Amino acid sequence: MKPQPWSTPEITSVGRQPAHSIVHTDRVELDGVWDFELLPRPDAAPTGDWRSIVVPGAWTMQDTWDKPHYTNVRMPFPEAPPHVPDDNPTGLYRRTFVVPETWSGRRVVLHVGAAESVLLVELNGVDIGVSKDSHLAAEFDVTEHIQSGSNELRLTVVKWSDASFIEDQDQWWHGGLTRSVYLYATSPVFLRDVRTHADRDPETGLATLAVTVQVGAPGDAVPDGYAVVVEFAGRSASAPAPVRAGNGGHASVVEAPTIDGLDAFTAHYLDLAGMPIPDELAAAADATFRWPGPDRVTVEIDPGEVEPWSAELPHLYPVTVSLVDAGGRTVDAAEHLVGFRRVEIVGRDLLVNGKRIWVQGVNRHDFDPRTGRTITREQLSAQLADLKRYNINAIRTSHYPNDPMFLELTDEYGFYVIDEADIESHDWALQICDDPRYLAAFVDRVSRMVIRDKNHPSVIMWSLGNEAGNGANHDAAAGWVRAYDPSRPLHYEGAINRDWHAGHHNTDVVSPMYPPIEAIVAYANNPLGDRPLIMCEYQHAMGNSNGSFHDYWRAIRSTPGLQGGFVWELWDHGLDPEGDGHYRYGGDFGETLHDNNFCIDGLLFPDGSPHPAMFELRREFSPVEIASDADELARGVLRLRNQQTFASLAGLSVVASVVTASGVGEATPLEVSADPGQDVDVTLPGDLVHAVQQVDALGLRLTVTTSTTTAWAPAGTELAVLQLDTHVDAGEWGTTSDPGVPVVLDAEGLLVHDLLEHAPKLTFWRAPIDNERSRFSGQRDPSRGFADLVRSLEGVVWSPDHTTATITSSYRNADGNEIRHEQSVRSLADGSLEVVEKVDIPPSFEDLPRVGMVLETVAGFEDVAWIGDGPHETYPDRRSSALRGRWATTVEDMPTPYVRPQENGGRGNVTRAELRSAEHEIVLSFDRGMQFAVSHVRTEDLASTGHVWELTPRPETVVYVDVAHRGLGTASIGPDTYPQYRVGSGTYTWSWSMQARQI
Ligand code: GAL
Repeated sequence: MKPQPWSTPEITSVGRQPAHSIVHTDRVELDGVWDFELLPRPDAAPTGDWRSIVVPGAWTMQDTWDKPHYTNVRMPFPEAPPHVPDDNPTGLYRRTFVVPETWSGRRVVLHVGAAESVLLVELNGVDIGVSKDSHLAAEFDVTEHIQSGSNELRLTVVKWSDASFIEDQDQWWHGGLTRSVYLYATSPVFLRDVRTHADRDPETGLATLAVTVQVGAPGDAVPDGYAVVVEFAGRSASAPAPVRAGNGGHASVVEAPTIDGLDAFTAHYLDLAGMPIPDELAAAADATFRWPGPDRVTVEIDPGEVEPWSAELPHLYPVTVSLVDAGGRTVDAAEHLVGFRRVEIVGRDLLVNGKRIWVQGVNRHDFDPRTGRTITREQLSAQLADLKRYNINAIRTSHYPNDPMFLELTDEYGFYVIDEADIESHDWALQICDDPRYLAAFVDRVSRMVIRDKNHPSVIMWSLGNEAGNGANHDAAAGWVRAYDPSRPLHYEGAINRDWHAGHHNTDVVSPMYPPIEAIVAYANNPLGDRPLIMCEYQHAMGNSNGSFHDYWRAIRSTPGLQGGFVWELWDHGLDPEGDGHYRYGGDFGETLHDNNFCIDGLLFPDGSPHPAMFELRREFSPVEIASDADELARGVLRLRNQQTFASLAGLSVVASVVTASGVGEATPLEVSADPGQDVDVTLPGDLVHAVQQVDALGLRLTVTTSTTTAWAPAGTELAVLQLDTHVDAGEWGTTSDPGVPVVLDAEGLLVHDLLEHAPKLTFWRAPIDNERSRFSGQRDPSRGFADLVRSLEGVVWSPDHTTATITSSYRNADGNEIRHEQSVRSLADGSLEVVEKVDIPPSFEDLPRVGMVLETVAGFEDVAWIGDGPHETYPDRRSSALRGRWATTVEDMPTPYVRPQENGGRGNVTRAELRSAEHEIVLSFDRGMQFAVSHVRTEDLASTGHVWELTPRPETVVYVDVAHRGLGTASIGPDTYPQYRVGSGTYTWSWSMQARQI
């Protein structure tokens, strides 16, 4: 029986060309509209009923019966590897093309950028080949099969295969051709591959450039007289083209002398053993045992003085490699941009150019909500430029090699990249890693990635893949990489996930996932720790998350051995095939087995706009940090730190302004110059010092912008806004203590007011955030009763004139535990109400989502302003990016539209809030910084709705004001909210006032 390529892991390809790193430009593009038929199984007969489909693009996103399907760990079908279901969507793609006449006599190669998961190629009725590995290109030499005039190309893509078991990443399952398809032509004798080795010694500044070239030719027989020419900065060097030839099966026949009874044969072995042999015998011995020459040649050029490449200063230099025939004619040429840099691990430090770098990273998938995975260069460059503006300097290509243009841009913009092979066998991790049937696939995937991407300076580590156990197949792949490219360290989390002190053969860094802060610090303090700790995933960004990001970075910056990590993950993978802005997650396409909204776990919304947590990254990763405190500022002292590793502050501008409740003062440019890693005392102008010392000052705000234009941003682009708060004042209170009109309460003892639809009531519950819906959050089960506390009025004590009422009530849960509340409301002559609250929470409630109040205004209050944290959402454990000041927005815009509704939109430290309708203003003032949020939906609406686009806004404005609010943590995977950000039992008191007036 003929083996079926989709269930035979030993078949990784048939007829495919070796990987290489040359970009060929003499092309016929085949992207566009193709004929298409989706068959129910690979052996189904085509019906001839073609429809059209766009290439590149997954068919699952183009209105076929086969829809996207989301699973995390679980395979979407029950079969054991390498077996796949008989029902197996199979796309048949067809199109015709004509090649230019100028291609006559040239070598023609078909390039298929990516096919999920098995590709079968047929050209003009001839079977050409097979390929697997869904995120790397497959190339086929089709020279022999091209005809003049019209050619018909058929690409068959089978969705499920033995390879699906090692492409079991946590993402949507799609099918189809997801990257570009084209043909390219080369001369018959051509550059097969070019490898650049660009090194620079950080101590001496001495750079070297070596270029290794392989040449291809029909039958692999390179004719005589070809040469390779390398040019760099006006210098050139050349060498005869390497000939890929065997030795005919036997060594050359040489006349072998015998000296002093020693023949060449024996001399050769004595030489190997390290014994001296007579010079005269050396040549003969060598000739007797000579192996054929290698199939590559290395040309070295002295590059002279060059600037090193780093993510901060990504200097690139062009190198041209030409293949010249015996007549001196250039028949093929390739240009590469090289960056001179050295990556090493020395002890527990990952060094770039001799310096310990900070890994300010994110995990990134190739993703687009409309196409699934297909992205354009414009999209990608805009996204990467954006990441630079958030001071992100590192990306892990989780969990497969990205579109090739990605590395071109990371070289140019400056990112440190962990390039990861397309191997994740999560559901079968412990079986497949030792299964010899998959051995070739492991080595194939790792080696093809390394060969494709080796020339990119931005790649600083190779990764063997993700969540695939750690077995013999990994050892083989690691061995291949270590031999092929000793210039870069190796990364693989699977090698250390049972023991951070093990797995040295498969990883050079300790790269755990989601470790708590205590654990990484413990590792760094353990004398047995012998490798740098760089978290390959941490800070799971699912929904309203990323609590304690600042705490992680405080530990990282202050603990030798810790260098940072990669936040999981960049993007919410919500799909929007219809383009209606209704982002879907697992289960929304009719899947029964799925993992819900676990794919909605990014720092960016599906449309690419930032979650508030992005500002926390931008703040922590700021190139400039404030190194002095508020007391020093009060004395006029400001110390700044250049937090970069390589760049001086020359490329940045810093301006300072004093923030008050009425606005932001004039921006004063500061003279700041500091070497990388150094602190500098800044002389603040006298008027700034004076202004910051005034009682109305909230803080000193510094804005850091670029002062030169880079590939990713024009000069003047904002990189960070930092603020040193001076003091937090209470909100403004009324000026009178004269009593006003009598207070009005309803039968429940709740305040009655014309502008309130619902009086303020206590609340202890918030709509569960994703971090509270996880198995990792243990006892933090949000359903444990805070939503259903029952309030009972216990009594009201009135002042004789009814301008003061003291109301006591209790809030009881199903177990009979009760929280007691005493509220004293006083009406004042200026029309305001002053309220003093006291809440006693018994120890039976030891961990609460919040302690605060909720009220609802009548309809029409659409504008909101506040003094406190802003402009974006903050929570107690995610507010290092908060800028205290006066902020204003609309009630519609203040919430954060997390795809799956949950607690959101809060702003911390708020001392005053204003709500405005066309006719009225309500001003709330607080005696301390409160957590504040407004919205047109209630907690219960958020908690009971699956998608943000399914929420129905209420006309009323719902206002939340909390004296205590639980932090966010990252427990959807990772540590729960740290204890210092939790809300416990005890007595909470606070006061507030409400003033309403007609506008
Ligand atoms: C990791 C995994 C990621 C993703 C993440 C949770 O274990 O490597 O691919 O699943 O957890 O979102």
